[in-house]
Amino acid sequence: MNVLAEPRIAIVGATGAVGQTMISILEERRFPLADLRLMASSRSAGRIVETRWGSVKVEDLASADPAGVDIALFSAGGARSLKFAPRFVAEGAVVIDNSSAFRMDDAVPLVVAQVNDEAIRSHEGIVANPNCTTMVAMMAAGPLHYAAGLRTMIATSYQSVSGSGQKGMDQLASEIDHFGKDTKSLVSGRWQEPPGDLYARPIAYNVLPLAGSITDAGYTDEEWKLVHETRKILDRDTIAVEPTCVRVPVMVGHGIAASLWFDRPVDLDEAVAILGTAPGTELWDDVRVPTPIDTAGKDDILIGRLRETVGHKGGLSLFAVGDNLRKGAALNAVQLAELLLL
Ligand code: A2P
Repeated sequence: MNVLAEPRIAIVGATGAVGQTMISILEERRFPLADLRLMASSRSAGRIVETRWGSVKVEDLASADPAGVDIALFSAGGARSLKFAPRFVAEGAVVIDNSSAFRMDDAVPLVVAQVNDEAIRSHEGIVANPNCTTMVAMMAAGPLHYAAGLRTMIATSYQSVSGSGQKGMDQLASEIDHFGKDTKSLVSGRWQEPPGDLYARPIAYNVLPLAGSITDAGYTDEEWKLVHETRKILDRDTIAVEPTCVRVPVMVGHGIAASLWFDRPVDLDEAVAILGTAPGTELWDDVRVPTPIDTAGKDDILIGRLRETVGHKGGLSLFAVGDNLRKGAALNAVQLAELLLL
């Protein structure tokens, strides 16, 4: 299943928030690539991007020839993945796809690097990168699951606007500007609706308890991803997940407050021993509370507020937070590419 020691890499969606982070992470990790191609929409075609490997001209995905690509990192939206990923695979590439297009496909492994690495071995050309919120949750829940068997997870996410791409960050910045000119109106209630329809309600100076769109049973697609992806990654169909996904006025960093119960009680000492040594994570104490802004630009997932449950005893409550553009997306994709190296 391995590809080459020095693969030829393509980034599809290279001009987006995640795509640009993919380039930075390949550079930081001195990824041993033989060639780097960057692809995006016709709007960006021809643009020159300076990289560690020289100047690269952005290609129009629609007309780019996938021949010769060994690993393609896709982050250009599900529609592009569905249409173009099979074409890259047909030309011999392994596609690491950041969209939700293939995640629940039985033939596609869904892999959080450092949690379920072995699953990548079964790929048939496409490997799926999990949802950014699920990724953060799994970095904490995974090691606990392997020790004690996860049964139930009640989780509320605090998702940053960069989860909606560059346009999410632009929207928050413009709304902060809009409301910032007259913050008294936010107290009196006489505020004016900001321009833009990216989010159902204003996102600056607010929280929006609806991330994604409502699908089945009153839950959003983001919430269903947390349900289904958790079960697939941890390879246990019976895990009960109760999700609420909330969008918050944060640029980067998805947080998740979770209460977890296992096949047996897990006390604080055991949890500290497990999470204190879990790869790719840092366990913070309650003095240095981990927050989204602490994670920006950081690879590790931060875990804090770790405590034993008090309502229904025997479980654990915690807050995990990570840079959704890095571990939540680009970093994990690059780590998966590293797992594919000879
Ligand atoms: P472009 O910048 O040319 O629009 P984000 O999630 O930050 O908005 O980024 C989305 C990425 O997906 C960008 O690189 C964007 O390219 C790319 N993209 C969007 N639509 C298409 C398309 N129709 N074909 C190819 N790439 C696309």
